[in-house]
Amino acid sequence: MNKVTVIGLGPMGTALSKALLKSGNHVTIWNRTKEKAEVLVQEGAVLASSVASAIGASTTIIICVANYEIADSLLNTEDVTPVLAGRTLIQLSTGTPQEARNSENWIRNYKAEYLDGAIQAWPSHIGLPDTTILFSGSSNVFQQNEQLLKNIAGNLVYMGESIGSASAQALAVVSYLLGTWFGFAHGAHILESEGLPVDSFGHLIEAIAPLLGAEAKHQGKVIENNKFENPESSLQTSLDSVERLVQQAHEAGINADYPLFAIPIMKQALANGFGNEEVSSIIKILRNNN
Ligand SMILES: NC(=O)c1ccc[n+]([C@@H]2O[C@H](COP(=O)([O-])OP(=O)(O)OC[C@H]3O[C@@H](n4cnc5c(N)ncnc54)[C@H](OP(=O)(O)O)[C@@H]3O)[C@@H](O)[C@H]2O)c1
Repeated sequence: MNKVTVIGLGPMGTALSKALLKSGNHVTIWNRTKEKAEVLVQEGAVLASSVASAIGASTTIIICVANYEIADSLLNTEDVTPVLAGRTLIQLSTGTPQEARNSENWIRNYKAEYLDGAIQAWPSHIGLPDTTILFSGSSNVFQQNEQLLKNIAGNLVYMGESIGSASAQALAVVSYLLGTWFGFAHGAHILESEGLPVDSFGHLIEAIAPLLGAEAKHQGKVIENNKFENPESSLQTSLDSVERLVQQAHEAGINADYPLFAIPIMKQALANGFGNEEVSSIIKILRNNN
């Protein structure tokens, strides 16, 4: 039976703990708000009285709190740092590559190992075979913990020794999602403005999702190779569509902030002569915008 500690019992930390319990591990837990531990204790988890004792209970410690600043405030303390030696800390809170590098530096000073992870799923997906978590850090440490981590996600993606890789990739996904959140809300608003049902919108997106995935792969290659010519749909064509969004918003009297945000950047790309290139040529504008 593996001994593992989970620090942080928000929706994600709770889901991680449940999956680890379900797969037969000895799970010690700690959370600032103790009441959140009750359900897990009923399922067999052991609630530690302090962060230091939670860490002392296991060789592998998973931390999943709101952010790295909070993780550091819990771990980088006089009580906790003497207990770290010989243990592995696995960070599953969301952060930046620089925060991952900072964490690795201070944790290694205390002779502990560190893996940085980024969960690509919602809590209800934890423990499923297709669920993805990205990891970066020492390959030995990853391999030592791989079987344990398979209990929380079937698809573990090891991204290499460079500790910032997992959070960089995860933030790229958040950036992609940001577009979909605003895009979906604005699209739903269009449908509402025409008195149409919104629930079918999600079904339509699901139906075309494989095409969207293929398009993302294509644009990734285009950017990687810096070859933007011969598009199937040019930047000019895409800009024309976005301008129709603004026109519809004005005609229907709905908010146009989302398309209006994009138009100046696309027009800058057009002014730079990228009109007949792939729409991802806007990255050339973003690259020069430091
Ligand atoms: N939920 C998701 O779908 C999802 C998906 C991928 C990644 N993640 C990442 O997983 C991490 C945890 O997310 P979550 O959804 O479980 O909820 P969350 O609201 O981001 O984090 C809640 C956890 O942080 C703790 N916390 C917050 N402020 C604290 C403080 N000042 N001192 C001590 N503990 C503090 C909470 O303790 P209390 O219970 O005491 O407030 C709780 O354990 C985040 O970094 C999130 O980005 C979440």
